[in-house]
Amino acid sequence: MRLIVAGATGFVATEVLRQAINNPAITSLVALARRETACPDNAGENATKFTSAVCEDFGNYSEDVKKQLAGANACIWLIAVTPSKLKTMPFDEVRNICLDYTDYGIATMAPLAAKPFRFMYCSGVNAERDQTKKLWIMHDYGLLRGKAEQNVLDFAAASNGAVEASTAKPGMIAGPNTPWTRAIAKTIISTVVGLPRVEVHEIAAAMISGVVGGFESDTYLNEDLVRVGRKVLESEKSSA
Ligand SMILES: NC(=O)c1ccc[n+]([C@@H]2O[C@H](COP(=O)([O-])OP(=O)(O)OC[C@H]3O[C@@H](n4cnc5c(N)ncnc54)[C@H](OP(=O)(O)O)[C@@H]3O)[C@@H](O)[C@H]2O)c1
Repeated sequence: MRLIVAGATGFVATEVLRQAINNPAITSLVALARRETACPDNAGENATKFTSAVCEDFGNYSEDVKKQLAGANACIWLIAVTPSKLKTMPFDEVRNICLDYTDYGIATMAPLAAKPFRFMYCSGVNAERDQTKKLWIMHDYGLLRGKAEQNVLDFAAASNGAVEASTAKPGMIAGPNTPWTRAIAKTIISTVVGLPRVEVHEIAAAMISGVVGGFESDTYLNEDLVRVGRKVLESEKSSA
């Protein structure tokens, strides 16, 4: 299968690419980002599966980029502004990146894709789909991410089976290479705020398993990402 990883230069995507490159079910891996993505350093002879696709404007895909995306069976969408970067830009720009790029991305990829086209949208535990709700923390951002989730699910529902979609809603994502000061800060924040936690290798494995084998539901809560991710990783370990 041909898998697109959108937002390929990011933290979660780096682990998704690292796992996907050696997954035998994935025969072609397209790393889509606004700048070049390096081939994962564990690729070995599977480096031939890897292509870096550079899209300068996610509101307007060039014909060259569309050619690189054509024929895909699935996409894991990881483009977003994370909460720690919210204050670095006006909220209109956050809306454009988190919502408009996602809407336009799925609408651009689906007609070029194989059928069914599986689309996994990663947001977060606090993304709220009900736009009438009042959120006590990050109200505008939580609703924005929830709207993006809902739009992806609505797009799939209206596609007559051409698109299958799901959403991943992780809490805090921990990584092995997080500097210890940041790791401690993350642990304190997640404990104080009561955020659940998932390891980056677990969420990556869970999302890959969903796009490769089919989604178990249209929503993967943090606990689902941990459960599915651990199961996949354990079975890979025991068959190695
Ligand atoms: N990290 C966590 O603890 C955490 C927790 C819960 C949920 N999540 C969610 O998981 C997903 C991935 O998060 P992450 O931590 O991997 O984020 P990240 O490291 O910040 O990566 C974000 C990706 O989006 C791209 N991007 C940002 N602005 C862009 C723009 N204007 N145009 C094109 N691309 C743009 C970045 O490209 P550049 O590299 O070029 O900037 C990068 O590829 C997000 O939806 C996030 O909300 C993350």
